[in-house]
Amino acid sequence: MTMYDIIEKKKNKLTLTKEEISFFVNGYINKKIPDYQVASLLMAIVLNGMDSQEVSDLTLAMANSGDKIKFNFSTVDKHSTGGVGDKTTLIVLPIVASLGCKVAKMSGKGLGFTGGTIDKLEAIKGFKVQLTDEEFIKQINNIGVALISQTKNIAPADKKIYALRDVTATVDSIPLIASSIMSKKIASGSSNLVLDVKVGSGAFMKDIESAKMLASTMVEIGKNAKINTLAIISNMNQPLGNNIGNILEIIEAIDVLNNKGPLDLQNISIELATYMVALYKNIDYKVAKNQVIDVLENNQALNKFYEFINYQGGKLENISFNPKYEYKVYAKKEGYITKMNTEEIGKIASLLGAGRMTKDDVIDYEAGIILNKKINDYVKINDLLATLYTNKEINLIDKYLNAIEITDRQIENKTILGVIK
Ligand code: URA
Repeated sequence: MTMYDIIEKKKNKLTLTKEEISFFVNGYINKKIPDYQVASLLMAIVLNGMDSQEVSDLTLAMANSGDKIKFNFSTVDKHSTGGVGDKTTLIVLPIVASLGCKVAKMSGKGLGFTGGTIDKLEAIKGFKVQLTDEEFIKQINNIGVALISQTKNIAPADKKIYALRDVTATVDSIPLIASSIMSKKIASGSSNLVLDVKVGSGAFMKDIESAKMLASTMVEIGKNAKINTLAIISNMNQPLGNNIGNILEIIEAIDVLNNKGPLDLQNISIELATYMVALYKNIDYKVAKNQVIDVLENNQALNKFYEFINYQGGKLENISFNPKYEYKVYAKKEGYITKMNTEEIGKIASLLGAGRMTKDDVIDYEAGIILNKKINDYVKINDLLATLYTNKEINLIDKYLNAIEITDRQIENKTILGVIK
């Protein structure tokens, strides 16, 4: 078997065998196959696709390339394909843990226009994102939830292949995205999984058909790997909630747990938590939803959040928000907001300091945006659209105005666009 023949086969739209897929994955991590040959195969996959057996074989080959975590109890996990202002993990974890579900979560840092949960938690002084295996398991047993940074040797083949995809224009492929995400989920050992597949101007998937295809591909991989998997498809045509930026997102997550958060964020958090509880406890959606609403209303979820942050060393009382500069963005036109270029808004937040454009950039936890107007809001000239917060002198007001479209009509705008079981 040679890598040349494997590339040739995919170039000619033929199906790769399990042995061929393992050959290239293992050969790549063992440094027997060079970057240029793998890049060539990845491009052939982007252009010619993979069938479900190939995707499944690729996922397992990457999942088996490093450590695998095993729990001797049932756990539930969630994963979002990435968006702007997405702080749902901080909200749903304490909800489901306060209902007796065990959550073992590994999260990543943000890169580019999307944020990462680890950055948000690191905005809380003292919060430890690294725990030993013993500490991780003990914490889950004691309080039902633990969240750590993905530093372990989990799916190292995906790490190497993803880095190559990032620089060879081969990220946007459903088989490659599905196998990348699911290889890490399989290796991290969860028994139940709720996926949040984002679609829209601030997501990888720009149209609903692609989002559905990605969701069903991942659900099928999960089920084949004996993980109870379900996906919701959610709207990323505008940022989620009103706050973008690390400290601002912590504050907004607490608002939702206090029943004072914005409706879109509250709705999607309730939906995700409901499916996580329903899968974990094997109960009906409606029964799970009532339980979720109860723990939000009686503050059990909020108390679990404080317990979780405290247990991992976080000092919420020390959180402060005093950025040096604030730039107010006022409307120059009257009408309804009909479009928000969410990727662009995410990039603006990054430029203010809230995210990183390269993986070595240092984050400013106070930087970010508070949105005052979102899709379908009516604005008059000089109404406040948003405030940009930063510790550096950088004026992005015009950039923000260019990311917003104001017209004379409202549009259809739903938060949840579908569920794939
Ligand atoms: N997130 C991943 O982990 N992998 C992808 O390919 C895309 C998003």
